[in-house]
Amino acid sequence: MSTKSPKPLVKFYSGEELPLELHKVRIVQKLHLVPIERRLEALYEGGFNTFQLRTTDVFLDMLTDSGTNAMSDNQLSAMMQADDAYAGSQSFYRLLKAVEDVLGAKYFLPVHQGRAAENILSTAYVNKTSLVPMNYHFTTAMAHITQNGGRIVELLYPEAYVINSSHPFKGNMNIEALEECIQRTGREHIPFIRMEASTNLIGGQPFSVQNMRDVRAIADKYKIRVVLDASLLGENAYLVKQREKEFMNKSMQEIIQTFTGMADIVYFSARKITSSRGGGICMNNEAIYKELEALVPLYEGFTTYGGISIREIEAMAVGLYETLDETMICQSPSFIKYLVDESMKKGIPMITPAGVLGAHVDAMSFCKHIPQAEYPAGALAAAFFLISGVRGMERGSISNQRDEEGNETYADMELLRLAVPRRVFTLSQIKYVIDRLSWLFDNREMIGGLKFTYEPTVLRFFMGKLTPTSDWAQKLMAKFRQDFGDSL
Ligand code: F0G
Repeated sequence: MSTKSPKPLVKFYSGEELPLELHKVRIVQKLHLVPIERRLEALYEGGFNTFQLRTTDVFLDMLTDSGTNAMSDNQLSAMMQADDAYAGSQSFYRLLKAVEDVLGAKYFLPVHQGRAAENILSTAYVNKTSLVPMNYHFTTAMAHITQNGGRIVELLYPEAYVINSSHPFKGNMNIEALEECIQRTGREHIPFIRMEASTNLIGGQPFSVQNMRDVRAIADKYKIRVVLDASLLGENAYLVKQREKEFMNKSMQEIIQTFTGMADIVYFSARKITSSRGGGICMNNEAIYKELEALVPLYEGFTTYGGISIREIEAMAVGLYETLDETMICQSPSFIKYLVDESMKKGIPMITPAGVLGAHVDAMSFCKHIPQAEYPAGALAAAFFLISGVRGMERGSISNQRDEEGNETYADMELLRLAVPRRVFTLSQIKYVIDRLSWLFDNREMIGGLKFTYEPTVLRFFMGKLTPTSDWAQKLMAKFRQDFGDSL
């Protein structure tokens, strides 16, 4: 098999280079582009929280890539051979083989999604004296650790927080800070070091194989487990191939297994990595397997289905093999890069370099006039939905949780994430996103702040309700009508 990296860019006669789709559309779903007046109503009904919208009001759903990547014909056909059994299903053994072939792990525990794996790991290893160092937190990973009484610490290099950068690996763990943290905390209080492939909340930024080697060396020195969150490992490996010299001619399988081979435990959201549903935890160490195995029937289901439908088990197996196909894996990152590059040309502040899972708009700079206490990223997400029907996700202070005293812990970055699930959108839809984003940028002063009217204590961004601090949404709608007439 050739390991030469295929470039998704096709040069047109005109000289233009485009991320051409290397798949064909065979099943389609109708979308709803409703008038802006209806979108304003929908925002009020949903408390200006894009999680609370219904898809009948959404045109392009860029909320997440979780469970929304397009599935392949091979995945769908595999689902028809599902061997439904409570225990010992053939489908499970096909998945086990895929886990071994792709991730290089002998033992596997299926769970119903990524956060279920986080629950099991935190229940097994985290207590009130625990501190978990990580390159960066993900909302659910952190919630499970704190739920079990532990704390987390994020150890990135300062470069990670620079919005416009050319650093290829902003997700790298700060190695010096990690060693210093272990010495200060005491290794007995560190149940594991968590490495998240393509740090979701700071713009889907990857870490390098070299960084993982350095983390492994420190972990070996202090005898601490390394846990790899592989939910976005396929794209992380793809960017390693693009950006880390040593790996430019290596296959996806070699890169993926180089990463997983350095972790004691690998877990993932199959909703992301395998474009299906479900999740899993895998390892090569039998003792660790035995420790975690007992918790799966308690929280998930028997160890050969883990709370996932057997059809999805089949889809996971095929999806795992498909992560080795660069023409599939590169689709989302190359669309994201197009979206980022074209938006930047219009002056829109975006996180660079373009990462994985979505394009990230820097709301702190887009909405300079909105203080963090009025949630600029949440306001931008609501405003963008209003004027485009495109549903993005707030990844800023609303996604953070309050501290023990109930004070806001403002996010390092206020981002509007526009997810680009694999093989879902066409390039003209991406162009529409750029066009409407550019209009909103030119009218950015009209966006106002938000305040909570209902604020749950745990994971408040999901169910929370907010309201605008003034009538800015009505004014923005009027400006849209003035500029676009009766266009949808
Ligand atoms: N880890 C990472 C890096 C994730 O991005 C996610 C989910 C999880 C764990 C949890 O997995 O949803 O299957 O329970 N990310 C989704 C997102 C929700 O929209 O970014 P899950």
